[in-house]
Amino acid sequence: MAEEKLVHSEEAGGAEAVSSEELGRRKFLGGIIGIVAGAVAFIVGLPAIGYLISPGVKRQTQEQWLTLGPVDSIKPGLPTGFPFSRRVKDGWVESTQTGVAFAVTDDNQNIQVFSNVCTHLNCRVNWDEGRDGFFCPCHDGLFGLHGEVISGPPPRPLDQFQTKIENGQLSILLEA
Ligand code: FES
Repeated sequence: MAEEKLVHSEEAGGAEAVSSEELGRRKFLGGIIGIVAGAVAFIVGLPAIGYLISPGVKRQTQEQWLTLGPVDSIKPGLPTGFPFSRRVKDGWVESTQTGVAFAVTDDNQNIQVFSNVCTHLNCRVNWDEGRDGFFCPCHDGLFGLHGEVISGPPPRPLDQFQTKIENGQLSILLEA
């Protein structure tokens, strides 16, 4: 009688041990299969995902030379504004970028070209003869003829474009 109990209890214990071992093994195998399936799906799907989202995250990084006009039209000591516009593609979004580039020269030899975007909060500056500077109406920022900050909140001078002159035409380098 006592022997039978022991057998039963061993059997019961053995059956329980086998069952939890089996369960553990199944869980382990299930986990491995899940990981492998996930990895395969990821590897197979990655090019498709990249194809679908890449235009949305890609920025156009092409630089573009833009011809403003003849160098002769720039009067020494006074900024000459050249309005420009161009198409810009940023991921899925295509837009038109407009602006005015201000060319400044003292001697018709060295020419600086400034952006009309204020370095404080991106408002547009304009040459103000009365103030003898580039004035930003948003917060009364004032820049000098060579883009230097004279007064107001702008933290730095006006941005300058890289320039080149070919066949008497002034061009600026625009970045996307
Ligand atoms: S945006 Fe030009 S001074 Fe603030």
